[in-house]
Amino acid sequence: MGRRTDADGMGLNAMMVKSKGDSTTSDLFSDLLSPDQVAKRLKTYKPLSKPVWSDHKAKLIEKYLAFFVYITKHGTYIDGFAGPQSPEHPETWSAKRVLESRPRFLRNFFLCDLDSEKVNRLQALWESQPPKEKNESKRQCVVLHGDFNTRVDEILASGTITEKEAAFALLDQRTFECDWRTVEKLAQHKKTGNKIELFYFLAAKWLHRSLSGFKGDAARATGRGHRVDSATGLAYPADGSGGPGLHPGAGGSRAATGPWPWPGASAPAPGSAP
Ligand SMILES: C[S@@+](CC[C@H](N)C(=O)[O-])C[C@H]1O[C@@H](n2cnc3c(N)ncnc32)[C@H](O)[C@@H]1O
Repeated sequence: MGRRTDADGMGLNAMMVKSKGDSTTSDLFSDLLSPDQVAKRLKTYKPLSKPVWSDHKAKLIEKYLAFFVYITKHGTYIDGFAGPQSPEHPETWSAKRVLESRPRFLRNFFLCDLDSEKVNRLQALWESQPPKEKNESKRQCVVLHGDFNTRVDEILASGTITEKEAAFALLDQRTFECDWRTVEKLAQHKKTGNKIELFYFLAAKWLHRSLSGFKGDAARATGRGHRVDSATGLAYPADGSGGPGLHPGAGGSRAATGPWPWPGASAPAPGSAP
């Protein structure tokens, strides 16, 4: 018996090209489109009109909170990283969708961002809300300028989130901005009642890449007292020393955003309601 070759073994038929007058084999890749056909098909794809993931995320949070308040009939919304990711697509902005959703059962809002321009947008968003209607509870909002990892202490100390207060916190960071200690503080705040519900964004898609660029000690950085600059992956002390200006200090530039107790604050939380 001779040695088995490609010619009599697997794959030969697939390799055959149909020759003229040959009715026993078929054309290779007969279903391939011509370049013209491909070009025509490509023309049918439109560019995305908005960032789809952000859009879905904002809708998910809005819907989740709609069901949340159907049960609780009240509540506090904390958004630690609240500025719009895509200001040109306001419909993908979670804070906006939540503030504008109905029924308006959520009563207290804490919206924080590090970026002063985004803080201005948050303030404008709040001020653009229509006044309260008959049978609606008064709503109040504190817009906070600064590092949420620091400002979360003031939110929790403000007395707004009592054991009986239903609360939801959105931690929509880009990658490493939210210290794990911040998650712990929120999780441990309520002792006997239902916990503050947490929606924590984990950057699963690019986490490996981000971690591989780490120059600092990841465990220290994401643990107590340290934070990481998302652009460089470097770890800095949480007091702001050595960091790239990530800590404008407790007390932002706006009267309404200074440290607790906030000016004009009346327990349980200050109001700047329109
Ligand atoms: C992913 S975006 C938030 C997107 C937003 N939730 C939305 O629905 O469009 C992250 C935001 O966090 C802000 N940020 C970054 N570091 C922060 C920090 N340490 N504290 C508070 N905000 C921070 C950024 O300025 C940015 O606006």
